[in-house]
Amino acid sequence: MMKKIAKIDKEVVKEISQAKDVKILEQIRIKYIGRKGKISQLLKQIPRLPKSQRPQAGKFVNQLKNKTENLIQSKNDTLVKLTEESARDRIDITLPGKKFTLGHTHPISRIIEETTQIFTGLGFRVVEGPEIETEYYNFEALNIPSEHPSRDMFDTFYIKDDILLRSHTSPVQIRVMEKEKPPLWIVVPGKVFRPDAVDASHSFMFHQIEGLAVDEAIRFSDLKGTLSTFINRMFGNDIKMRFRPHFFPFTEPSAEVDISCIICEGKGCRVCSFKGWVEILGAGMVDPAVFERVGYDPEKYTGFAFGMGIERIAMLKYGINDIRLFFENDLRFLKQF
Ligand code: PHE
Repeated sequence: MMKKIAKIDKEVVKEISQAKDVKILEQIRIKYIGRKGKISQLLKQIPRLPKSQRPQAGKFVNQLKNKTENLIQSKNDTLVKLTEESARDRIDITLPGKKFTLGHTHPISRIIEETTQIFTGLGFRVVEGPEIETEYYNFEALNIPSEHPSRDMFDTFYIKDDILLRSHTSPVQIRVMEKEKPPLWIVVPGKVFRPDAVDASHSFMFHQIEGLAVDEAIRFSDLKGTLSTFINRMFGNDIKMRFRPHFFPFTEPSAEVDISCIICEGKGCRVCSFKGWVEILGAGMVDPAVFERVGYDPEKYTGFAFGMGIERIAMLKYGINDIRLFFENDLRFLKQF
């Protein structure tokens, strides 16, 4: 009897220690201490033993039973804890991934990038200037004296006395020329502000890109070549360009530049007001009075300047018929670019 007990003891301890999950453990429990289990059988044999052996045998079998119960209980605790931990750590690689929505470049920023890339490819450098300006840089230095009717061309938001929101990017011409000597080849992208009533083609804030080239012997043909190269790279080789005489106080001669409407290919449509042409920029040869103001010798240097509307370019390039779409942050619109 004692041998049997010792054997079962060894067996049960080994099996419990090797049990890999609670199911197996339950089978072990039934096998040993279930109603017909091995240890339960031992207990039933005790009354049949010689009287002298019964107390000791009973004691040992009961000890084995208690020990087995305890071992099973603590093994069960460990197994439960382990499965909980591994469930927490487990990565299910069959689940569909989480989708991240990446932001992307605003159409206006895209056109600014494309435009500056074309101009840097032609040897221009990108410069920026302040959006809050003084009257001096926005007007006086550009040969636009106060009380002069040409100020009407640039309706302006004033912040106080002589501080304003720049109404064009041209003041940056002056800021750069004051600091640097020719040769100068710069483009200046940025926001400008005008108190216009908002409609499909007007916004109180929009973007321009200014261009300025100053060197010895720069001619109007250089301006024309630069702009036609830009327009062909931006819109393709089929596009036509025309210069219309115009007036700007800081250029002489001055022109407004139109391109053939790319929406209707010049036939006439709503976007070009049935003219077949769309104005995209103002330009001209830098007025000698401007050079004098910044201390450049107008006998030695000549230059050209232009200022174009970025929204116009974007609207033509992407076939957009309402400028407000750019600024409403409607994702249905923005996601198309
Ligand atoms: N600053 C002018 C405007 O906003 C455009 C321009 C720039 C014209 C440079 C000539 C030269 O209308």
